[in-house]
Amino acid sequence: MTQQLINLTRGVPPVDVFPTEDLADCFETALKRDADVLLQYSHAGYAPLRQWLGARHDASAEQVLTSNSSLEVFMFITQTLLAPGDRAFVESPSYDRAITLLRRTGAEVVGIPLEKDGVDVAALEAELQRGAPVLMYVIADFQNPMGVTSSLEKRRRLVELAEQYDFWLVEDAPYRQLRYWGEDVPSLRSMAPDRVLHMSSFSKILSPGLRLGYVVGPEAAIAKFSQWALDSYIGPVLPTQGMVYEYCQRGLLDANIEHLKALYRPRLETIRAALDEHIPQATWTEPEGGFFVSGDLPEHCHIADLIQRGKQVGLKLSNGRGFFPNPENGNHFLRIPFCSLTPEEIKEGVERLASIV
Ligand SMILES: Cc1ncc(COP(=O)(O)O)c(C=O)c1O
Repeated sequence: MTQQLINLTRGVPPVDVFPTEDLADCFETALKRDADVLLQYSHAGYAPLRQWLGARHDASAEQVLTSNSSLEVFMFITQTLLAPGDRAFVESPSYDRAITLLRRTGAEVVGIPLEKDGVDVAALEAELQRGAPVLMYVIADFQNPMGVTSSLEKRRRLVELAEQYDFWLVEDAPYRQLRYWGEDVPSLRSMAPDRVLHMSSFSKILSPGLRLGYVVGPEAAIAKFSQWALDSYIGPVLPTQGMVYEYCQRGLLDANIEHLKALYRPRLETIRAALDEHIPQATWTEPEGGFFVSGDLPEHCHIADLIQRGKQVGLKLSNGRGFFPNPENGNHFLRIPFCSLTPEEIKEGVERLASIV
């Protein structure tokens, strides 16, 4: 009998969580109601959705730019703010595509080691002495790839340092609303709205195929990014923005988030328990939400070897090196997404992993 492959690489939602019927109904309603706007060019996105998002973030519609994915928003931010030779700080490890987009501007990308409660502040201060960045990219909630959340104390310090050294904090928060237990920590934006560009996305709380992301920030910065967007592609895809606006204003988004949390919470519990039981020789993070748990593997266990051995037991693993500005630091790092696997697949996957570690 051939063994079913278990894929531990992709941070995507399972397909059975997409609310297809509701979205289809919202699409039809939105299009019939507002076709003149939704089928025309736009600037900065669908105004009612920008307004709705603004209200959720204590901001005006003018402080919100919606776009085709938060990655695209990040592209506008990086292209607008950074020039070759500028410095950009990231947590190390960080989201691999964000590192790529920063590098494409010609900026020097500097990794600040990430600990279980946020960045290593002493290392950040030492790096700031060498030269302040234009921006620092931070995933403060249920970080990709580590799964950790920055403490209130470290968030306060980040904001203080950003003020002192005059740099932007780009807070990327696609997982923030997926907390399975514990208390929310205030967002960086709530602490320093003039200093923080808060990005988020509908990819993890509704559907990634929508490619719908946004940034909330000071009006002047948003105007600059909007102008960049206008000059590049005029405006984002609108009919889906109309559909999502209708979905949100019917109150369905919050219900969907609750549904996702109820589904993902036991998956996180299952993977944490299985990792502790079967692979205690690695150090695993203890996320309270999001999509990822990660581990530092024992010294003898190089990630490239593990990926090869995984193939022999029907396990697909991702190479942790891509998450580190200096890939050497990721030789023993493993990120495991757990949301799209059932508890049974998680148990089986962790047992297979244990057999090759
Ligand atoms: C931290 C982070 N930012 C952004 C994204 C991508 O979001 P979007 O689908 O809106 O481009 C992801 C997806 O994995 C992510 O983990």
